[in-house]
Formats: sequence, C-alpha cells, structure tokens
Amino acid sequence: EKDGHDWFMRKEIYEQPQAVADALLGRRTPSGALQLDEMRLSEQELRDVDKIIVIACGTAFYAGLVAKYAIEHWCRIPVEVELAHEFRYRDPILTANTLVVAISQSGETADTLQAIRHARVQGSRVLAICNTNGSTIPRESDAVIYTHAGPEIGVASTKGFITQLVASYLLGLYLAQVRGTMFGDEITAVVNDLEEMPAHLQTLIDRKDEIYALAAELKDARSVLFLGRHAGYPVALEGALKLKELAYIHAEGFAAGELKHGPIALIEEGLPVFCVVPPRGRDQLHDKMISAIQEIRARGARTLLLVEEDDPAVASYADSVIPLPRVPVLLQPLVAVVPLQLFACELASLLGHDVDQPRNLAKSVTVE
Ligand code: BG6
Repeated sequence: EKDGHDWFMRKEIYEQPQAVADALLGRRTPSGALQLDEMRLSEQELRDVDKIIVIACGTAFYAGLVAKYAIEHWCRIPVEVELAHEFRYRDPILTANTLVVAISQSGETADTLQAIRHARVQGSRVLAICNTNGSTIPRESDAVIYTHAGPEIGVASTKGFITQLVASYLLGLYLAQVRGTMFGDEITAVVNDLEEMPAHLQTLIDRKDEIYALAAELKDARSVLFLGRHAGYPVALEGALKLKELAYIHAEGFAAGELKHGPIALIEEGLPVFCVVPPRGRDQLHDKMISAIQEIRARGARTLLLVEEDDPAVASYADSVIPLPRVPVLLQPLVAVVPLQLFACELASLLGHDVDQPRNLAKSVTVE
C-alpha cells in the first residue's frame, strides 16, 4: 500500500499535487462562479455572518491561522482562531450570526466535536472543513467542505493540511462572492492561482533530494527554530510542530517581528533557523523579514531561507536557499510547507524513528 515508499507520510507528501487538484475539482459553475456543493447555508445566512471563529487542534489549527489572514483580507469579516479545547471551556461569545468553522482531518477529534456541540447549543451555525466523509463532525455541522485528500495514514498530517488550506481559501472566496467584497474577476484570478498549485507542488517535490541532503547535514541538531511573518507565520509553527512530533527535536516557530521581544536571546553560533521569506510585493513584509534574517545571522544563526526563486536580496544572508515558486503572499503557505514536511520526514527517518507512528501520538484523539 505504500507503493514502494518506506513511510506512508512520504507517500502522502508526494501525493499532495493530486490532493490539491482533487480539492479544487468541481468548484466552478459553467459560468465561472464558485460553488460549494455541501454549503447548506443560504446566501442570506452567509451575508448575515458578523464574526467567524475557527476552531481546531494540532496541524488543523495552523490551517485555521492561515484562513484568518485570507478571509479577513478578502471578506472583511472579523475572524478569530482558537484551539478547540480552549474555546470550549472559556464561555465564548456566540450568536446566531457567528459562523464557527471547525477544521478536522479525521472529523472525530473529541476536543473539536465538543466545541461545535457547544456552539450549536448557543445557536451559532457550524461549518466543517473535513477530510473524512460521513464522520461525526461534518454530520453534526450545518455545512461542510470536504477536502478530498484521500485517506491519510501517517499520524502527522500533510496532504490533510494542504487541502485544509485549499478549502479555507475556497470558503473565503465563496464568502467574498456572496457578500460582494471582491469582483468576480478577482475571485477568478485567485482560483486560477490555486489551479497552478499542483504544478508548483510537483516542482518542490522533484527537488526533494536537496532537502534530504539538508536533513542529513542537520541530523545532530539539538534545537531548530522557524521564523515567518503574515501567512508565513503559521507555516513556521507547522514546520516546528512536524519536527517535534516526528524527530523529537526541540523546535519552536516564531513570528519574525516578535524576535526582538524575546526569542532572539536563543540565537547562538550554529543554531539552524528556517525563515519563510514573504514574496516581494508592495508591502514591507519582505524587507522586514530580510532585516530579521540579518539580525540573527549577525548572532551566529545558520540561516535556511525558504524564498521565492531569483530573489537577489537574500543571497548574502543565506547559508542555504530553498527556492519557492513565485505565488501571492496569501497562498505562499501551500508551497512553503512542503520543504518543511520533507525535512521533518527525512530527519526522523534518518534518526531511526517510526515516522508514521510517532511515540505517544494518535492519528485521531477521540478523548477530551
Ligand atoms: C492530533 C494528531 O492528535 O490531532 C494531529 O496527531 C492532528 O496530527 C490533530 O493535527 C487534529 O486532528 P484532526 O483529525 O482533528 O485534524
């Protein structure tokens, strides 16, 4: 079943171009408008939404953080993102106009399930982003966007995560269409960008040997840091989580702007730091990231830069460059996460760990 691969996780990483293509299948009407087939909420209900709360656990929570950047930008609806177990027990403010979005690969995570039950009792609508047809969370939700990644066996989510990102973007674009916060051709342009993703992901996977060589070089690292900003910040968190759960190496993800408020104290000679560099654009994100990289490099960090190809500004600050295809900043998580998945999978494998079944973890946690 592993098709000749040593681990399901590796196979599932390589399946991501197809998973993203499947997640996008059938989302446009003949006239080019977006459609979501199990969106059982009416257009009026979606226009009435005045707040979105995304709830999830683990990797799915990081997909939720990306969703916030996209949905707030495209739809101008306030979006909160919260760990399901924290949300459930803090008396959150919920009304009939709150849309709760539950993201769960398995659809069975008890923390997330309890949270949606709580939200529905309070009268809020719940939309599930889920990979498992007919599982409990979508069954108990008002609407669902299935991610269509296919079965995911590796405990650490990869194609599940990447298709949660796709579903989150589709939700944001659909809300923008219904609420009129974007022009039709703007929505179409983003959908076109999404449809180019399978080819971009394949390019990254074809370059896997460079990442595997890096993993071999860094296999004795005792700690690894990850920096990002904007939509790259959740990618940094996800890169760190993957390394913790698979390789059992201390790893932390930080927002690059937060460095000077604390984490920079951790930087010492030779410490590997992955940096997700935002694409060059009209905003200052890219330049601010470059100055963060200069700061840590001056203090001895070994800088591993995930950066769009042919970015002339970074060469002199990079110990290693991991080239990314040129994509809009909001979509960059789709491409930036892939090298980090490959890195964690390979490093854990080199260390002799069970990549598919990391110690102490379960694929689906059905107890609170
Ligand atoms: C964890 C899994 O316990 O549950 C993670 O080990 C996963 O990989 C998290 O991200 C959430 O799971 P789900 O199925 O709700 O997305």
